[in-house]
Amino acid sequence: MTLDSVYFDGWYTDMAAAPTRDAILARAMGMPAELQDAGALLWQGLAEVTAALRLTPGDLLADIACGRGGYGIGVAQSSGAHLIGVDFSAVAVHQATANSARLLPAGRATFQTGTLLETGLPTGSVDALMCVDAVQFGEPPLAALTEFRRLLKPGGRLAVTCWEAVDPADEQVPSRIHAVDLRRDLTKAGFADVQVREMPTWRQAEREMWEAAVAAPDADAAMRALQAEGRRSLDTFDAMRRVFATGTAP
Ligand SMILES: C[S@@+](CC[C@H](N)C(=O)[O-])C[C@H]1O[C@@H](n2cnc3c(N)ncnc32)[C@H](O)[C@@H]1O
Repeated sequence: MTLDSVYFDGWYTDMAAAPTRDAILARAMGMPAELQDAGALLWQGLAEVTAALRLTPGDLLADIACGRGGYGIGVAQSSGAHLIGVDFSAVAVHQATANSARLLPAGRATFQTGTLLETGLPTGSVDALMCVDAVQFGEPPLAALTEFRRLLKPGGRLAVTCWEAVDPADEQVPSRIHAVDLRRDLTKAGFADVQVREMPTWRQAEREMWEAAVAAPDADAAMRALQAEGRRSLDTFDAMRRVFATGTAP
């Protein structure tokens, strides 16, 4: 399966009509009720992402591969930052724009199409950058991290959440996850203060989310997709670890 923008446009179109899917994820991830847009990151984990970004009100935050925008909007709400979100799915960008119009004051957020490797944003234009559970789609991830460094002002903070293989030789782990080595690649991309931490609490929340998804009725296409992903994830659960990486642009 090619996970291109056409695939993700379909994924987000299905999700728009899938209250059951949203409710399962929101419950498992502790998402605030009004946002109703959880991914695979525990909402409490987003507080750790927010702290790592060291934003002050009025700063500009980029959320790259933002999807429907919920996590970036959550960080903008709690920090007072302005937000620019980028995703290669036009459907996701449309949904993120609608979500931010509902949840943030006018003028605080914009969303546009662009890729992990070519965001379309100017060099040295953002104070902080987050990328939640998407850097593995960069081909290769190092090129995405190099683009992130280009966007950041000197001293700007980066926060990336993803998964890595526990065993580099484990063939059950998807090749795109094998390609992720955040400590190596953040250093290669020129970031300073690189920290990569394993996050077992986040991983445990994911397990509970997948178990709840698999046990639920297959109400619609988005639920069926979530359940297929859940079965795959649970089958190989211990083969991957949850990682949270941070760095500073020099
Ligand atoms: C697992 S979702 C995560 C979305 C969001 N960050 C979240 O956590 O809710 C992965 C996202 O990456 C986007 N994506 C995948 N490959 C991309 C690429 N090459 N350039 C830009 N976005 C991409 C998809 O459209 C999707 O929104």
